[in-house]
Amino acid sequence: MRIDVVTIFPRYLDALRESLPGRAIADGRVSLAVHDLRDWAADRHRTVDDTPYGGGPGMVMKPDVWGRALDSVVADAEEPPILVVPTPAGRPFTQAVAAELATAPHLVFACGRYEGIDQRVMVDAARRLPVREISIGDYVLNGGEVAVLVVLEAVLRLVPGVLGNPRSAGEDSFADHLGGLLEAPSYTRPAVYRDLPVPEVLLGGNHAAIDRFRRDESLRRTAAHRPDLLATAELDDRDRAVLAA
Ligand code: ADE
Repeated sequence: MRIDVVTIFPRYLDALRESLPGRAIADGRVSLAVHDLRDWAADRHRTVDDTPYGGGPGMVMKPDVWGRALDSVVADAEEPPILVVPTPAGRPFTQAVAAELATAPHLVFACGRYEGIDQRVMVDAARRLPVREISIGDYVLNGGEVAVLVVLEAVLRLVPGVLGNPRSAGEDSFADHLGGLLEAPSYTRPAVYRDLPVPEVLLGGNHAAIDRFRRDESLRRTAAHRPDLLATAELDDRDRAVLAA
């Protein structure tokens, strides 16, 4: 997979070279290029922003600078990449979006700062590329860089050969076998930690009982933390009885 990130803070993305994504980059399974947007500025101050038309606070990133940057990054691409633009005004980033992005051979990320990027940059890019404006949550960051770290961590662990243990990706929260519920809590040794015992059923070898216990914990946790997920979760009569209890 090829990844390009355009930002005015290239060093923010240094974190990608750590850990699992870092290993995939180091051994060539993922090629990562981080570009400084200011390289495409036109003046000696390397200006990338300007005041908003229509008034209002803050600054808007200039379309001409972004247009040159994206044209240049895409110029040698073999097929059109997906352009990902993190913004609090985007569609929610979910595991399903991560799975879609993980199948793309080439992703380009455009990190906005200030009040965002002139919207015509995305309108123009969409004439040639799939464009995904995505939000990582209902809060406002200062820019897209940290959102790119979040998105890439979620995406890269779904790319075959990037995650150390290929079984793990399918077993996390939102995995299909949980039918849209949160995963159950986990425990390891010791069997008693500061007067707190591990749930008894996990110490025995009754796997049907363990599966039932974990299912019940998933249901209770989802009801407590994310009741919105219950509306679309796959529930049977036994699940509904546990929730009603
Ligand atoms: N940029 C600023 N806030 C953001 C958010 N919540 N998600 C994605 N990009 C952002």
